Amino acid sequence: ELLKGQAPKKLAWKPLRAHVIGAGTMGADIAGWCVARGMEVTLQDVSPEQIAKGIAAQGKLFARKFKTKPQRDAAKARLIADPNGEGVARADVVIEAIVEKLDIKRTVLAEVANRLKPGALLATNTSSLQIEDIAAGLPDPGRLIGLHFFNPVAMMPLVEVVRGEQSREDEVSRGAAFVTAIDKFPLITKSVPGFLVNRVLTPYMFGAMKLIEQGEDKERIDEAARTFGMPMGPIELADTVGLDVCAHVARILGFSSEGSRLDRLVAAGKLGKKSGEGFYVWKDRKPLKGD
Ligand code: NAI
Repeated sequence: ELLKGQAPKKLAWKPLRAHVIGAGTMGADIAGWCVARGMEVTLQDVSPEQIAKGIAAQGKLFARKFKTKPQRDAAKARLIADPNGEGVARADVVIEAIVEKLDIKRTVLAEVANRLKPGALLATNTSSLQIEDIAAGLPDPGRLIGLHFFNPVAMMPLVEVVRGEQSREDEVSRGAAFVTAIDKFPLITKSVPGFLVNRVLTPYMFGAMKLIEQGEDKERIDEAARTFGMPMGPIELADTVGLDVCAHVARILGFSSEGSRLDRLVAAGKLGKKSGEGFYVWKDRKPLKGD
């Protein structure tokens, strides 16, 4: 049911230019990745400081991907600060990765839709909104698809290509072709809460958190999962994703975390790796000890 419909026809498509709106955690890294795969990318944000920060943060990726200085300089030159969104009119692919607020996404995308090049792909990186809700304000709602990248973008091969109720099949196919062109793995899913990955991950992480509440030791849980073959255990994973994000996704999927350890940690600002403490205390992105 989640993977509704037939896999779309295989399509080779090599877009040259992308425009990314939102230069936060995801937008900047998506832009950097596309540049590293050879594209030219314009990066837009309401905050020029955020654009500068997002671009600077890609230096590490370029240093890893390109051996010579001319290659790195060429990559830097392909990542263009674009506070006014002028790149929209030239882009083959436009990806929206701004704050997770339906009304703001609708407003921004409606404005962008009027300036798109004919045939350009229009996508949102939303993690929890429904594609059809975002598309409702567009002149052509069938044009919008979801491209749900995972964090950190450079490490995660999977991208969910989300088919909204009205998304046209050729847009879904081109979404999958674009993901393939940037050397990621496309997984086509239906637009349902949590899409596919979070629907699978959330019960898994919640189950592990429940075990802790029942007195089980978190290191043992994580170790068991690693022994089973997971790259990291579910509690370490929750700390990596961010406990606020976990709690948000859990709410959307109807899991109640009220009164749980997860809620108490979030309320105390202990959000995992990014704040230095969650279920574990973190130093240099390694667990120091548990609380
Ligand atoms: P963030 O808060 O790091 O960045 C959002 C950026 O959008 C900020 O730089 C902000 O200045 C900018 N912005 C806000 N309103 C804008 C507007 N009207 N025009 C242009 N820029 C605007 O957020 P993050 O984490 O990067 O999330 C972005 C999107 O990606 C959200 O839809 C989120 O659900 C989704 N997502 C997040 C993941 C994560 O792990 N953080 C994973 C997968 C998807």
